[in-house]
Amino acid sequence: MEDLDILEKKILSCKNIEEIEKIRIDIFGKKGVLAGEFIKLATLSAEEKKDFAQGLNTAKERLQTSFDSHYANLKKALLEEKLKSEKIDMSLYGGVSNKGALHPVAETMDKIIEYFVALNFSVENGPMVEDDFHNFEALNLPKHHPARDMQDTFYFGDSKLLRTHTSPVQIRKMLSSKPPIRMIAPGSVFRRDYDLTHTPMFHQVEGLVVEDKGEVSFANLKSILTDFLQHMFGSVEVRFRPSFFPFTEPSAEADISCIFCGGDGCRVCSHTGWLEVLGCGIVDPNVFKAVEYENVSGYAFGLGVERFAMLLHKIPDLRSLFEGDIRLLEQFR
Ligand code: PHE
Repeated sequence: MEDLDILEKKILSCKNIEEIEKIRIDIFGKKGVLAGEFIKLATLSAEEKKDFAQGLNTAKERLQTSFDSHYANLKKALLEEKLKSEKIDMSLYGGVSNKGALHPVAETMDKIIEYFVALNFSVENGPMVEDDFHNFEALNLPKHHPARDMQDTFYFGDSKLLRTHTSPVQIRKMLSSKPPIRMIAPGSVFRRDYDLTHTPMFHQVEGLVVEDKGEVSFANLKSILTDFLQHMFGSVEVRFRPSFFPFTEPSAEADISCIFCGGDGCRVCSHTGWLEVLGCGIVDPNVFKAVEYENVSGYAFGLGVERFAMLLHKIPDLRSLFEGDIRLLEQFR
């Protein structure tokens, strides 16, 4: 066997981890110096064996101790070097990093959802690619009904379409569960429209309440929506105007007093003093017939989230919400 001192010197002269790893293999490895010595054991007589083995074990121990302590030293040195070269001066000024923020539409959506969830409404979802039955037919909009023109639809070839409103989620919910129902359905909807106040994709929140015991009334509907609108817009006046939707009867549109001029009349409210913010009504019996509900009554409402966001943040052009321009988004941080 190579002289123990020489082997030890070899270990101690390693200057870095790579070198000492190589020595580890040379000395302690499967084909290393020590392994070679142990093989020799087999050729020795019983007495010789004992002494030789003892000596070998002592030598091994000594080498191992030297190795371990030098290895630890090299590791420590490496760490120290790293700490020195990667040192961070915590006292240096780091500059202001860019912080993200919720998109105004997402933020408005959250605020609306939170309001209704607190009133025990469940939050429902439905597919954006719908069929004629859920988007129109079951909502009392038979084929060739002129009211279909109110909603310019994107059609796919195979009688599928992009939902034009969130009302089909009402139908899906009623088909899949029993009354009573108390739900909202937030989500994207799609119409062939593009100008200052319309984009081909926008967001709605639908609301539906169905009671099987006792009857809902228009007064219920008015009171819940009035509270909701005042929660969203502050102390505004709320009025309900008769309107028409095929799936509700009677139907109404809700207006709030203009939050820009306080009702005096300005450009935003077209000098009427009022801003139209949502549609609502008592669920038409034909809708209940389509989902085979009997002896129930209900009300529904639907609103455009972008319209709320535009009013709340005084955004003049709806399209700017979807251009991804950082200069617009930075204003909502
Ligand atoms: N679905 C209607 C729309 O998109 C809104 C609405 C929903 C009106 C529910 C009344 C009741 O215009």
